[in-house]
Amino acid sequence: MWSAAAPGWERHARFVERREATVSDLLLASLRPGTTVLELGCGPGGLGLAAAERVGPSGSVVLSDVVHDMLAVAERAVAERGLPQVSTRLLDLEDLDLPDRSVDVVLCREALMLVPEPSRAAAEMARVLRPGGHAAVSVWGPRPDNPWIAVLLDAVGDAVGMEVPPPGIPGPFSLDDADRLAALFRGDGFADVQVRAVATPWEGPSFDEWWNVVPALAGPVGTMLAGLPPETAEAIRAACEQELVRYESATGLEVPGLTLVATARR
Ligand SMILES: C[S@@+](CC[C@H](N)C(=O)[O-])C[C@H]1O[C@@H](n2cnc3c(N)ncnc32)[C@H](O)[C@@H]1O
Repeated sequence: MWSAAAPGWERHARFVERREATVSDLLLASLRPGTTVLELGCGPGGLGLAAAERVGPSGSVVLSDVVHDMLAVAERAVAERGLPQVSTRLLDLEDLDLPDRSVDVVLCREALMLVPEPSRAAAEMARVLRPGGHAAVSVWGPRPDNPWIAVLLDAVGDAVGMEVPPPGIPGPFSLDDADRLAALFRGDGFADVQVRAVATPWEGPSFDEWWNVVPALAGPVGTMLAGLPPETAEAIRAACEQELVRYESATGLEVPGLTLVATARR
């Protein structure tokens, strides 16, 4: 499912970085020159590349993702930037093929909520971090606070007659509770666990732009949408437009979004 989304993430990588700027600043705050960084679920790798600028040539950054096509997008970005301190690895968040205590900082932006067992992933982060190291993770907050994507999930769900994502299947809102997110890290021996809610609105010039960008980034739901008959997809588009009209702003469209940013010390 995420493989099919790789071209969309490559196409819209710059937009993603602009939109995530505040979240990224919080995630990268503990980085110093010389730090060893592991990014998990990196997608096109924008966060890890920003990390590489901060840790400099005396540090190192591994960009990792479990999806080969996503990692290929990150590899192209690394080659374009020519940063020798960055490398890439195919890694599953829940089963990191890395030695114990081998990195200073683990970063993960909008990916931890997608795994079936996030507690296993948190335990893996704890295992690979050196004592005194940090994990910095972000996930989407509650569905009602994220109409920028919930509107699409609702419209697709209504059209196909089922909840999207289906109950029990990991999706954007699987870790939307700040207390649960904090408990995940505390349970795995992290200290100084903090969770902050950060406004991350979707801003763009028009509904047409929203329709151009959001389904292309939406992973599994974008794949579902692409497989529907054109008339069903058109009805979904119309339903989204009807919902989003309320978020029209002086400059186009500003649809609310909310991200939870968790930081924790090992
Ligand atoms: C919503 S995208 C976020 C991409 C990137 N972190 C960003 O913020 O630009 C989620 C990413 O998580 C990856 N992913 C999903 N499940 C994963 C897993 N079990 N292990 C590692 N990566 C995973 C997907 O391939 C995708 O690249």
